[in-house]
Amino acid sequence: MELNGCYDAIKRIHERIDAMNLKYYIETYGCQMNEHDSEKLAGILEECGYTAAQSKEDADLILFNTCCVREHAELRTFGNVGFTKELKQNNPRLIIGVCGCMMQQKEAAQKLYRRFPFVDMVFGTHELKNFPILLERALNEQRVFEITDIDGEVIEGLPVKRVPGFSTFVNIMYGCNNFCTYCIVPYVRGRERSRRPEDIVNEVRKVVSEGFGEITLLGQNVNSYCSDGVNFPKLLKMVNEVEGLKRLRFMTSHPKDLSDELIDAMAELDKVCKHIHLPVQSGSDRILQLMNRKYTIEHYMGLVDKLRAKIENVEITTDIIVGFPGETEEDFEETCELVRKVGYSNAYTFAYSPRQGTKAAAMQDQIPLEEKKRRLNLLNSVLAETLPAGNEKYIGHIGDILVEGVDHRGKPLLFGKLSNFKMVYVEGPEDLIGSIVKVKVDGLRFNSLFGHIIH
Ligand code: 5AD
Ligand code: SF4
Repeated sequence: MELNGCYDAIKRIHERIDAMNLKYYIETYGCQMNEHDSEKLAGILEECGYTAAQSKEDADLILFNTCCVREHAELRTFGNVGFTKELKQNNPRLIIGVCGCMMQQKEAAQKLYRRFPFVDMVFGTHELKNFPILLERALNEQRVFEITDIDGEVIEGLPVKRVPGFSTFVNIMYGCNNFCTYCIVPYVRGRERSRRPEDIVNEVRKVVSEGFGEITLLGQNVNSYCSDGVNFPKLLKMVNEVEGLKRLRFMTSHPKDLSDELIDAMAELDKVCKHIHLPVQSGSDRILQLMNRKYTIEHYMGLVDKLRAKIENVEITTDIIVGFPGETEEDFEETCELVRKVGYSNAYTFAYSPRQGTKAAAMQDQIPLEEKKRRLNLLNSVLAETLPAGNEKYIGHIGDILVEGVDHRGKPLLFGKLSNFKMVYVEGPEDLIGSIVKVKVDGLRFNSLFGHIIH
């Protein structure tokens, strides 16, 4: 993919804004994929000569990187973009841009573009490499509206400004081919395409040399990664060999494609964390079929059993949707039953949100909002009962945690995750944040564990 046009525009912007001390602020909605896209936008802006602003009020350029997976995210975006009108009145040279998944949907993008005439730039998910060219137009006071429907592009070589810390993301693939009937992602992120293994390994080497020790490989369905004859378990082996890397995570795994080879790789490879995010979405085979998920609960439970048999102390997390069209009380009960049976260590639960253009949005028997909320509350209380189950087995366990921060509920305690994603709280100095420390687990704290540092 040619990036000359992108770098030429970066150079021109750099010359133009040099010494103006311009600042940018990016507000990101949604998943890790979006967070990482924002790091690429920030990388481009820094190459152009912008620096990060602490708040929107301090910025000369504000970007909203949007999400459209659920309605809630959309409403927040409209509200927050609306608030910037006042900032623009106070600072007429302020540029406001809206991009990301929600803007890839032409109707939503046009609505926003019309409703907020002070927005300078609207662009979709496929415009990252064109971003400097679009920004140059905005600097020339032209209003930008750019959404293309291209597919199948893999862009290498864009600058990235990573959020500092110990953990970071590396994309291994883009897009999705699965068309789960509730999901908008295949429409706004395009068809599945994998990066070349050597490009991935080189990027991992680079970020490890910059000081990152934990890497999460990102893809909508990492289990269908395939490039140059390398599948996902083989890619994990290649990345596992990168010297200096401490921890390797990945997300997300679709249960229909989780192979024995991947389970074996997770068990064998020392840096691969013993945690898997395995979205089940529903506990009812009938609803799974309506969702086009292409597996049954029997298959899913088989995977859970295999993971537990082969990987010591493996922990499983999941995503669940309640109130999918046609979901009966019995279907919902099956979901609660599944949650009790699996014993997840965490679950992200959602009320079904109809997305225009998806199959499920046009299905009969949409569930009323009040009923979806009731089921969501019920499911969350079942989860609250089941989450701590099995935690006792960790008492006496010795393992490494990556210290993430300090919890100030009561006496300040450091917290961080074991390789398998279990959270452990320990006493210790704040300067350990960002490092890996060895701990021994002494007891339970809320849904998590409590212990002390050992040397
Ligand atoms: N409504 C509710 N939840 C959804 N998700 C995706 N689309 C929808 C929708 N239309 C959830 C799924 C997915 C997670 C990222 O978001 O559970 O795994
Ligand atoms: Fe959406 Fe299904 Fe693709 Fe995940 S696998 S992004 S839920 S269509």
